[in-house]
Amino acid sequence: MKKTNMHAILFLLCTLTLGACSKQANYDYDNSKPVYQKADLQTLRQAPYPIGAAVTPSTLKSNANYRNTVTTEMSSISGENAMKMNAISRGRKSYFWDDADYLVNFAVENKLRVHGHTLIWYKHTPSWVSSFSGTKEDWKTIMKEYIQDVVGRYKGKVASWDVVNEIINDDGSLRDCIWLQKIGPEYISLAFQYAHEADPAAILFYNDYGHEYSHARRKKAYHLADSLAKNNVPIHGLGLQMHTNISRAGNDIRYAITAAAVTGLKVHVSEFDVAVNADKKLTAINETVALQQKELYRVAAKAMLDIPENQRWGITMWGVHDPSSWLSPNPDWALPFNASFEKKPAYDGLLQGFYQGK
Ligand code: G3I
Repeated sequence: MKKTNMHAILFLLCTLTLGACSKQANYDYDNSKPVYQKADLQTLRQAPYPIGAAVTPSTLKSNANYRNTVTTEMSSISGENAMKMNAISRGRKSYFWDDADYLVNFAVENKLRVHGHTLIWYKHTPSWVSSFSGTKEDWKTIMKEYIQDVVGRYKGKVASWDVVNEIINDDGSLRDCIWLQKIGPEYISLAFQYAHEADPAAILFYNDYGHEYSHARRKKAYHLADSLAKNNVPIHGLGLQMHTNISRAGNDIRYAITAAAVTGLKVHVSEFDVAVNADKKLTAINETVALQQKELYRVAAKAMLDIPENQRWGITMWGVHDPSSWLSPNPDWALPFNASFEKKPAYDGLLQGFYQGK
């Protein structure tokens, strides 16, 4: 079968089966206008799909400008670290909830959607898990307990989860992790199943990187997501991390988003940032690189606008302002707000992408 025909059929099938999973979200953003004019858009919160940021509880508590930027501009938040297993799990059935609770309560108060990042990841396995000893069934049980305790606690409050994060190698094989070693490849479908049982309304994602630069990674990710969906595993979306930089062609970003939508799954650009100083030569951001960065923000915003509306989970930036980026010690000036929380050209790039202009 020709590739385009296969994609079209896959798209149709997935749209039909997964469309039934969409639900009314309990967050507040204005999606009433299908075509935007520049004047319509005063903040990112008015974007035609959710725009979010990864946040940390400590900075939300200590920095009023950071907090105000989140509540004014964002429709959605992800915990940058607070919802990872090493942050929550202190032992079997022993949890540290303070930071995750803080984020969820903050989001409820401010009508923000919460995206849970991440349930299962090969990195930062808590030491009690690494040293756990048991049968395959015992390993399934501890994974189920963890996933269901976390997802169950935030049922109805966390709209979506990265169920599995970074699960493939560059050659497309499954990445080694303790869950693969102890349970086998079915740990992936089980993780989705356990999360779905705990909150049947939550939108469940497979999140990974490299969609915009590696055909092998992209192809494997689609294939994996597609085979999970075909086997009735409750997967609803593909997360494209998209930590990128100004050397990337806009077409690569556009293609990654457009091609992900062909699966019929929801698409979340889940960790977006555009570094301008990848070779570490700059000591300050300048207009040339700021405009190159703006263009990639515009392309991503427009590409998300161009996929079917029911598949647009949105764009989440990996931080709020340049100093809160995980890249900041370098520095890379990768986000749309500068150190003084002023809007950079990248911010205008997003707005332009929303209203389809240039
Ligand atoms: O909070 C502790 C602090 O108490 C301690 O003194 C210090 C000593 O190293 O570490 C601090 O924790 C660090 C944490 O960030 C908070 O700053 C961890 O060491 C550090 O490993 C952690 O890095 C995070 C990284 O994931 C690993 O979890 C980054 O902030 C976070 O931006 C990054 O995010 C990942 C996504 O989850 C997955 N995709 C890639 C992305 C970027 O790497």
